[in-house]
Amino acid sequence: MAVALLVAAGSGERLGAGRPKAFVVLAGRPMVEWSLDALRAAGIEEIVVAAPPGTVLDGVIVVPGGATRSASVRAALAAAPAGEDVVVHDAARPLVTPEHFRAALHELADADCAIAAAPVTDTVKEAGADRLVTATLDRSRLWAIQTPQAVRRTVLERALDVDDDVLAAATDDAWLVERAGGTVRVVESSPANLKVTTSHDLLIAEHLLADRLSRPPAS
Ligand code: CTP
Ligand code: MG
Repeated sequence: MAVALLVAAGSGERLGAGRPKAFVVLAGRPMVEWSLDALRAAGIEEIVVAAPPGTVLDGVIVVPGGATRSASVRAALAAAPAGEDVVVHDAARPLVTPEHFRAALHELADADCAIAAAPVTDTVKEAGADRLVTATLDRSRLWAIQTPQAVRRTVLERALDVDDDVLAAATDDAWLVERAGGTVRVVESSPANLKVTTSHDLLIAEHLLADRLSRPPAS
């Protein structure tokens, strides 16, 4: 049985919508609800949401988030009911589909951690502080990492058992698993599973969700 940790406790500073990003209304509903729908459609019923203090959501366990994203993951895990596999997802990715969750969990059969990722389409270069280019990376080996990220529970517990400064440096869960010596596999996703960071992203997400709602449900 899989347990989901949905992190929704960020303040959404870069979006600047005047309220926590996960609760900004998107295509008619608070952003976090889109991820909750996808989780339930994937058959995942045990869900812990890390949210700003005082948040009320039906049918899920809600815990106050931490100072950083990974601290919120740790707080959610501490409140999670029994379950061998854990799937972590950012409420800031409302375009996630049930298939993303299923695919990541499926890949746990032969890895400690499996993460949604899109092949990089831009050319990626490295540059110094002087903006002089020092390297051009081999794009065929590069992936833009998303959530969901599925992890075996014992592996995630060990990966999160680190000092707060290490937690604060983590931009995803898989990095903590890598540090702890675990194996991580990418699961091909699409760039449509975008993260809402700025108002530009919110506009694109709104269009994509409106388009999804206008189509008849798949039979
Ligand atoms: N998050 C969290 N607790 C934190 C920080 C972030 O639960 N202390 C969650 C956010 O709610 C989001 C995800 O982690 O779903 C990814 O974080 P990000 O996109 O950076 O969201 P915010 O931190 O809210 O945005 P910003 O950095 O612009 O303030
Ligand atoms: Mg943030």
